[in-house]
Amino acid sequence: MDEPLFFATRAHVLVCTGPRCGRAGSRRVFDEAWRALEREGLAYYKRGGSVRLTESGCLGQCAHGPALAAYHGDAQGALAESWFVQVDAPRVVEIARALHDGTALPERGRFGPR
Ligand code: FES
Repeated sequence: MDEPLFFATRAHVLVCTGPRCGRAGSRRVFDEAWRALEREGLAYYKRGGSVRLTESGCLGQCAHGPALAAYHGDAQGALAESWFVQVDAPRVVEIARALHDGTALPERGRFGPR
């Protein structure tokens, strides 16, 4: 059996495509963001890319969807999490770009731990 390929990442971004976020357009948000991350070379499997974007089930923020959770390293290298609601594709890309570049995350729609 072949060994699985490992791709190092800086961040894992999950966009909820659960039932209520789906009704709020999250499938289109995910698809558009996916294409943008590929086009801009941010996707983890592209040369120089580092962001893994996946869809997820319900993230528990159904009334405020589409919801997004990102897991990434903090300034000390510890695992951190960042949460957002009412995301659209441009904001997913903005979040992914900030995580890739190690710059400040956007504040609009952000909640939870800082
Ligand atoms: S369906 Fe997306 S947070 Fe619940």
